[in-house]
Amino acid sequence: MERTYIKDLGQKVGERVSISGWVSVRRDQGKMVFFDFRDMSGTIQGVVLPGEEVAMAIAKDIRSEYVVRVEGMVNKRPERNVQADKQNGDIELEVKDIEILNASEAMPFDISGDTLGINEEVRLKYRYLDLRSARLTRVIRARDAIVAFFREHMRANGFIEVETPIMMKGTPEGSREYIVPSRLEQGKFYVLPQSPQQFKQLLMVAGFEKYFQIARCMRDEDTRGDRQPEFTQLDFEMSFVTQEDVLAYTEKMFIKLVETLYPNKRISSRPFPRLTYAESMEKYGTDKPDLRENKDDANELAFAWVVDFPMFEKNDDGTIGATHHPFCSVKPEDKEKFMSGDDLLSIRANAYDLVLNGYELSSGSIRIHDQSEQKQVFNLLGISEEEQRAKFGHMLDAFTFGAPPHGGFAPGIDRIVMLLEEQPNIREVIAFPKTGEGKDLMMGAPAEVSQKQLKELGITVTKKG
Ligand code: AMO
Repeated sequence: MERTYIKDLGQKVGERVSISGWVSVRRDQGKMVFFDFRDMSGTIQGVVLPGEEVAMAIAKDIRSEYVVRVEGMVNKRPERNVQADKQNGDIELEVKDIEILNASEAMPFDISGDTLGINEEVRLKYRYLDLRSARLTRVIRARDAIVAFFREHMRANGFIEVETPIMMKGTPEGSREYIVPSRLEQGKFYVLPQSPQQFKQLLMVAGFEKYFQIARCMRDEDTRGDRQPEFTQLDFEMSFVTQEDVLAYTEKMFIKLVETLYPNKRISSRPFPRLTYAESMEKYGTDKPDLRENKDDANELAFAWVVDFPMFEKNDDGTIGATHHPFCSVKPEDKEKFMSGDDLLSIRANAYDLVLNGYELSSGSIRIHDQSEQKQVFNLLGISEEEQRAKFGHMLDAFTFGAPPHGGFAPGIDRIVMLLEEQPNIREVIAFPKTGEGKDLMMGAPAEVSQKQLKELGITVTKKG
C-alpha cells in the first residue's frame, strides 16, 4: 500500500492508509495500546483496540523510537477527545497492522521534550538523536526556510551564486587560519577561507557585478555563544554601488524576510536607525548596541546600522591593524590623512555593520579598486613591498585591469537564525556544531591521522596536545 505522510491524514478520514515513521511514545493501557507516531511531516495518535490480536502482540514489543510501518483506519475522534490546538488533534489512526522496520535502544536522554536543559556533551555526542527533538527539528527547518528565502531573494534581484575555493591562500581577516598540508608540495599548505572576501572582489573585476554565495567560513578563534570555528555567511558583492545602495538593498531584504517568515515579530524602527561608530561608542559604549524598547519581548527586533568604522586600530602588541579588513576604502573627508599617513586612528572607512538586538549580524564596506590606494593601506599596515607582492600580488594586479568600483556585505546566517528562532546560542541552530573547544564530540574530531598519512605529507608531529 502506498505511503501517506502524516500531515495528509486529515484528508483521509474513513480510509485505510499506510504510514511509516517512528514511535515517539507508547502508552500501554492493558487492553488498548496508544502510540504517538512521527514522520518528517508531523505526528498522529494511533490506537490498537482490543480484538486486534496480531497487531496487539507486536504493539506490546514496541518501544520508543522504534521504526515502524503501520496500516490502519483514519477515524474522527469523539468530540470529548479532540485536541484542537494539536496537529491531527481531531483524528486518530486505528491500527490494523504493524511492521517493525527497526528496533531502537533506549534513548541516552529524553528527546520527547525540550532538550535544552540536558547535558550538552551528551546531546552533542548523540546529535542525530537531539535533532529528532521537536525544537531542533523546527530550528533546522526554519534555517532551511531562511536560507531559501535569501537565495531566492538574491537571484530575483539579479545576483548569481558562485562557489569560491575552500582551499586557498591566507586572507587577512583578523583570525587565525586553519591550514591544510599539501601532499604534492611537501612543506606547503593551503588555508581554509575565513571568508570569500578576495574571491568576491575578483568576481567584480571579472564583470559579474552581482555575486552572492551561501558561504562556509572557517576561523580558528576562541568559540563563544555566537561564534563557531565553521559558520555560514550570506556573502554578497555588487559593482557600481555606493554605501547607500548596499544599505538600502540589505534593509529591504531583512524587512521582507521578517514579514515573510516571521510575521508575528515586530521591527522596532523603520528605516533602521543609523549611528556612526563614534556616536555608538559614546552613547552606548559598544559598536553593537541593543536598541530594543522592551528586552523581555521575544518578538521585538531592533535592527540598527553602525557606519563610519575606523579604518585602522591598534593591535594588542601596539602595531597597527585593519579594523575590518585592508580592502575597505576610506571616507573622502579622510583621504588626505590617509595618503599622508597622518593620525591613522582617526581615519574612517566606508565600512558598516548591521546590528540586531545587541549582536553584530553583518559587516561590509565599499572597497578599494585602485592599486595605489590598496598599496597605501598595506604600506600603512607596515607590510613590505615584497610581502605585498607575495601575499596580495593577485589583488594588486587585478586592480590594474579595469576593476570597477564595488562593495558588499556578509550577514552571518547562524546569528540570524539564532535571533529569529530565539535560541540561546548558535550551536542550537547548526546541525552538527562543535563545542567551545572546537571539538566534534559525535565523530571525535579533531583526531590523529595514520603514520602513513603523515609520512606522505612530510609531517612529523613533535608535540601532542
Ligand atoms: P566579518 O568578519 O565581520 O566580515 O563577518 C561577517 C559576519 O559573519 C558572522 N561571523 C560569525 N558567525 C559565527 N561564528 C563566527 N566565528 C563568525 N565570525 C563572523 C557575523 C559577522 O557579522 N568578508 C567580510 C564581509 C565583507 O566585508 O563583505 C567578513 O567576513 O555575523
